[in-house]
Amino acid sequence: MSTERIAALRKAVEASPDDDMLRLILAESLATAGDAVGALDEYAVLLDRGALPAEHLVAVGELAATAERLPLLRGCLEAARQAGVVEGTGRLQQLVDEIVTRRTGVLVPAGGVDPAPMQAEVLRESTTFDRVGGMDDVKQLIHRLVILPLSRLELYAKYGRRAGGGVLLYGPPGCGKTLLARATAGECGLPFVNVRIEDVMDPYLGVSERNLHAAFERARASAPCVLFLDELDALAFARHKHGGSDARRLVDVLLQELDAIGSENDGLLVLAATNAPWDVDEAMLRPGRFDRVVFVPPPDEAARASIVDVLLRDVPTAGVDLRALAARTPMFSGADLRAVVERALDRVIDEALATGQEPPLSGAHLEAAAEVVRPTTLDWLHRVRGYIEFANHSERYDDVAAYLRTKDVRRRMAG
Ligand SMILES: Nc1ncnc2c1ncn2[C@@H]1O[C@H](COP(=O)(O)OP(=O)(O)OP(=O)(O)O)[C@@H](O)[C@H]1O
Ligand SMILES: [Mg+2]
Repeated sequence: MSTERIAALRKAVEASPDDDMLRLILAESLATAGDAVGALDEYAVLLDRGALPAEHLVAVGELAATAERLPLLRGCLEAARQAGVVEGTGRLQQLVDEIVTRRTGVLVPAGGVDPAPMQAEVLRESTTFDRVGGMDDVKQLIHRLVILPLSRLELYAKYGRRAGGGVLLYGPPGCGKTLLARATAGECGLPFVNVRIEDVMDPYLGVSERNLHAAFERARASAPCVLFLDELDALAFARHKHGGSDARRLVDVLLQELDAIGSENDGLLVLAATNAPWDVDEAMLRPGRFDRVVFVPPPDEAARASIVDVLLRDVPTAGVDLRALAARTPMFSGADLRAVVERALDRVIDEALATGQEPPLSGAHLEAAAEVVRPTTLDWLHRVRGYIEFANHSERYDDVAAYLRTKDVRRRMAG
């Protein structure tokens, strides 16, 4: 299509803006010429007027999806529903879900967000507790604090005890806080709304607050669900950096949102994680907000064995002694163990390439890898020990203090 012809069409549309047929031709011409933005603008006008023929809805939706124009895509979906275009509706719903998932980390139920009640049970596959090695204490705690109240809302209501109140997970990096939050959603079969505080933050005045509010709105729209605020310390970091009121306002918005949850009892389960609990605002820890603060320690020996077991689940192995490996990797985090496994797998792949055979992963591969990976939890533990000794709010760290007092840990930290 020549640019002259498009220009002529555009003129004609301007002259008779109510001629839907003409506008449709213009839109299609623009699309064919590769001007998606221009085409979508024309399609949007037609859609608004209810003048976009049903057979065009999927194609327009697909174009809107590639251009990330979610409202327009949603418009196509709605129109397809009303027109009873069954197959098209499925396809458009899928496109909407993809964008929403990508943008927000919300896992949308398979079959869309508007399923029949039975389908509502069918959730997109998600991590569950059996993908999380060890951590039995923490899992049990989460079960009691989070999962049980949610599954027995009526029981809690009867005794006037509201379910929820947020749970704040803290601990050294790489020990499974984020994984555990995901798995909590998976355990409850609920959508998981993941909000990294850093992603919310924006240098423009007021935008961060709006983003945060929007995240809660999104969560409320998919409730019941697990809302996870990851890397909560980013809030405090902002306060240090910008020195004051901006970040303060963001904290205030967060506090308001948290308080609102309590009063509405609306099926929002709030989890948060940080590895800098000393940076988390006191106000955040008041009753009804994050009133449970849970220490996620480095995995103990048994936990390490089961973490490696989880990590090797889909790997062909021969002669791997999980307990021996666990014994050789004191103070390793889950992420450190993953590094060990990945390193070992690299060696196996090197061997496969060199020999043309496909050897299984062996204990020797893992041991060699464990020799070169260093545990990353010790720095954090030294740091928190400093806080416990010198800070005022040491009772917040009772769990950590108890952990640091255990003989084994004392020895490792001295060594
Ligand atoms: N208990 C565990 N079971 C299985 N894998 C684990 C476990 N803990 C950690 N891992 C592995 O380590 C990776 C990092 O864990 P995760 O991101 O959950 O740690 P984190 O505590 O959130 O760390 P950070 O404080 O750095 O955000 C996981 O993706 C997983 O592969
Ligand atoms: Mg994390």
